[in-house]
Amino acid sequence: MAQLDEAAAIPVLTPYKMGKLELHHRVVLAPLTRCRSYGNVPQPHAAAYYSQRATRGGLLIAEATGVSATAQGYPETPGVWTQEQVEAWKPIVDSVHRKGALFFLQIWHTGRVSNTDFQPEGQAPISSTDKQITPDDSGMVYSKPRRLMTDEIPHIVDDFRRAARNAIDAGFDGVEIHGAHGYLLEQFMKDSANDRTDKYGGNLENRCRFAVEVIDAVVAEVGAHRVGIRLSPFLDFMDCVDSNPEALGSYMVQQLNKHPGFLYCHMVEPRMAIVEGRRQIPHGLLPFRKAFNGTFIAAGGYDREEGNKVVADSYADLVAYGRLFLANPDLPRRFEISAPLNKYDRSTFYTQDPVVGYTDYPFLDNQSA
Ligand SMILES: Cc1cc2nc3c(=O)[nH]c(=O)nc-3n(C[C@H](O)[C@H](O)[C@H](O)COP(=O)(O)O)c2cc1C
Repeated sequence: MAQLDEAAAIPVLTPYKMGKLELHHRVVLAPLTRCRSYGNVPQPHAAAYYSQRATRGGLLIAEATGVSATAQGYPETPGVWTQEQVEAWKPIVDSVHRKGALFFLQIWHTGRVSNTDFQPEGQAPISSTDKQITPDDSGMVYSKPRRLMTDEIPHIVDDFRRAARNAIDAGFDGVEIHGAHGYLLEQFMKDSANDRTDKYGGNLENRCRFAVEVIDAVVAEVGAHRVGIRLSPFLDFMDCVDSNPEALGSYMVQQLNKHPGFLYCHMVEPRMAIVEGRRQIPHGLLPFRKAFNGTFIAAGGYDREEGNKVVADSYADLVAYGRLFLANPDLPRRFEISAPLNKYDRSTFYTQDPVVGYTDYPFLDNQSA
């Protein structure tokens, strides 16, 4: 009983019904690219990594996964467009399900956040535009993209549809459409990156048309009850910024609401500010949370305290944790007993080692299996 009372006092550890899915707590693993899928094929070590983070009734969102051969922009990221990839995902999904967790796959096209090295036959990456991302001091150079022709776009929409079907065939409980962080969907949605003059450019409705077609196609293929989306209207990653993020987010939420039972909307907070040494989450998502009919997931800078606060305030139904969950495979348990957290090591976020910085973060009981 003492344990139950304690759990009742921890909002992120209370149960929640997402559509027909019963979650035992609200601590979600955010999608995290880890660059350890050699040759774009998920590897057995991913089963260890994800199952370490799986709990009964927990929700995990797998890393961004390419929908086609042109979708990649980083080394050794997984795909879900070939049968070999689908087969490789199956044991990973099984290992998560055996722990009683739910597992969604984030489906992704990087668009112009890529370079010719990642593209078939060294072609230019595709995008809404032929404007290259401005080089910054990170050392990454993104190639000048090729603007998709109007009649090519339905083929990309179809790649998302097929990827969603493949994800379900691999055993995933659903898919999350990656509509955030400056990748292909956002390159169309945001007015800094979309300079088209066809029906996919110009006004808000036109700029969102590609994303809406992807949503409609994926929903038609696997059912609204298995589809979520990630959006980041306020962010400015990869030269993708919108002059009216409120209007963009609201319009997209309205489109989601057109699908009865559309499962979840996962939104990334505006950039955090540091105030007196503490991260301050802007909590800028409330209008979208209020407008959306389904489950609302908030992400970006959350810790135990902030997560509890937003669940208690009904600002979000679920909270996705990225870096903290990356470094703490038993994050829900640590939240339960207010245990100290492992620190994440940024230098191994995107390296290719199958163990180091991946499956070797210690559990509370010091075992990493
Ligand atoms: C190593 C790493 C990889 C990431 N990969 C993805 C990804 O594949 N898809 C995505 O939507 N966001 C990705 N993100 C963003 C996270 O999902 C999350 O939104 C971000 O880390 C902020 O949340 P946090 O403060 O809890 O870490 C990544 C972040 C990190 C640190």
